[in-house]
Amino acid sequence: MTDVIAPRPRMLTGDRPTGPLHLGHLVGSLQNRVRLQHDYECFFIIADLHMLTTKSTPEDIARSDTNARGLVLDALSAGIEPEHATFYLQSAIPEIHEIAGRFQSLVTVARLERLPALKDMARDAQVEMSFALLGYPVLQSADILSVRAHAVPVGKDNFAFVEVTREIARRFNARYGEVFPVPTIVPSETPVLIGTDGKAKMSKSLGNAINLADGPSEVRKKVMGMYTDPNRIRPDVPGRVEGNPVFNYLDAFGTDTATIDELKSRYRAGSVGDVEVKRYLVEVLEAVLSPMRERRERFSESGFVDRLIVEGTERVREEALATVREMKKAMGLTGAFNRIRRSAGRHRDKVLQ
Ligand code: TRP
Repeated sequence: MTDVIAPRPRMLTGDRPTGPLHLGHLVGSLQNRVRLQHDYECFFIIADLHMLTTKSTPEDIARSDTNARGLVLDALSAGIEPEHATFYLQSAIPEIHEIAGRFQSLVTVARLERLPALKDMARDAQVEMSFALLGYPVLQSADILSVRAHAVPVGKDNFAFVEVTREIARRFNARYGEVFPVPTIVPSETPVLIGTDGKAKMSKSLGNAINLADGPSEVRKKVMGMYTDPNRIRPDVPGRVEGNPVFNYLDAFGTDTATIDELKSRYRAGSVGDVEVKRYLVEVLEAVLSPMRERRERFSESGFVDRLIVEGTERVREEALATVREMKKAMGLTGAFNRIRRSAGRHRDKVLQ
């Protein structure tokens, strides 16, 4: 007798191709994805249509294929195994729009207008709330439900969007019959990484990020230029550890807690200089980044990433097509045209008098 292997549940998550990922993404989402990758069949969307909701100039669009490849390489360098992952480009799958279109009837404008996360996005991107941006969670629901994902690993800023997805799935199933699983949110623990400038959050647009693709000299330069404690004008002045990005990073990436604790007490006591702590941080970061660079190097070979994206996109297109067919069948949406077409066939040879 052969064992029947139950299919693994599906997980879907992804990013907009707006630029290189940084250390904040590594602790915030990539490490979580790497941890989960063997428990699920994994789909990673390169959400270039979502990018258009806030960034839609020809320049933004022109950069998106380099950025798309970069996202995949960042994920592979962090430890996502290509044989376990399906990466795909959202804009190459028109069925996602078709699915999103049907979902538009299942959510109210008022519900979307109430989402603080969307208002934050508009404010951060300095754009007005467009129709597309208001529909961001509906489009995301189409991503998630087009592959009928069971689990969606995301950070806090996306919880409300996936809540909308859950409502849409429930409402669709209740109105037309069971087609979709109601996906679960898998929260990524987000130890917030502050910027190299001490600002609240590491962010590409603030220019305070250490990118996963940065080389050793760039990392060293960024660390040596990091904000520490502005009141500390000499190494013998007691310093603040809290809110100090250098220690924030040591806590996030260091493994030798004894050494880190010792550096903290010496820093507080004014018996260690910024430079020494920063040198140690460079070492700690290199221990994380250098194996990642090796994987990046290996996967950068001859079109590997491009082939991965193309194969993944073709595969998901099939999935999305099957979902559209099933949705239409459940909704009875194919019936009308089929009936009219059959009737047209019967009257083919008649001409108007
Ligand atoms: N909204 C996600 C972000 O903040 C990107 C995204 C688009 C996504 N579609 C998704 C995440 C589907 C999870 C599932 O960039």
